[in-house]
Amino acid sequence: MRLFSLDNRLSLCASFVRKNATLADIGTDHAYLPIWLIKNGIIEKALACDINEGPLNSGRADVQSYGLSDSITLRLSDGLKEVKENEADDIVIAGMGGELIVKILSECMWAKNKDKHFILQPMTKCEVLIRYLYENGFEIMKQKACACGNKHYTVMLVHYTGEVSEVEDSFCYVGKLDFSDSESKNYIFHLLSHLEKRAISDKSLLPVIEKIKGECCS
Ligand SMILES: C[S@@+](CC[C@H](N)C(=O)[O-])C[C@H]1O[C@@H](n2cnc3c(N)ncnc32)[C@H](O)[C@@H]1O
Repeated sequence: MRLFSLDNRLSLCASFVRKNATLADIGTDHAYLPIWLIKNGIIEKALACDINEGPLNSGRADVQSYGLSDSITLRLSDGLKEVKENEADDIVIAGMGGELIVKILSECMWAKNKDKHFILQPMTKCEVLIRYLYENGFEIMKQKACACGNKHYTVMLVHYTGEVSEVEDSFCYVGKLDFSDSESKNYIFHLLSHLEKRAISDKSLLPVIEKIKGECCS
């Protein structure tokens, strides 16, 4: 069966997965990410987890049709609750709101393990996620952005360091995006236009907007 291509968003997530890592894909839906990573020889084994039976059944059908039933374990799990610490090195949580990602991380008993890599792709409330990460001893190691059609996304590679730090409001919106990279610039331009609309009714956003503009557009 011919292998599908990942869209830019999932490709960016895939690019952050370590070679030969054991992957847990949380909220896997069709299990596209683990299937693609195994078929491309990047990893050998994965756990594909979802809180809902429906997506898990779609994932199971896809895993079977690509002949990967021995390499991908499909598991019903709310976040990481049914995943044991020794079952995953790299954990992808993509396509969910930032607040839900925070909930999943905060409910995981072993997330504060320095060897684990978390690959996080919030659809909303990136600022809530980044604040949570830094206030709880996590650090963004790398962050990139991409566009899919007219939508803009950011993906971050995160690990636990144990160092709790305070972060500025502006950092919570842009994190460690590289302002010289064109995809990151596009992401930030869209973010700024979104924040400017919100600032019409929420003036507390104005200093944040000015700070981001000063850092990225000067
Ligand atoms: C929009 S899809 C994203 C699929 C894929 N990760 C992606 O990025 O394309 C969100 C998936 O997350 C699942 N989900 C929502 N809350 C979850 C939770 N607490 N734990 C695990 N899966 C969850 C949903 O059932 C759904 O299949």
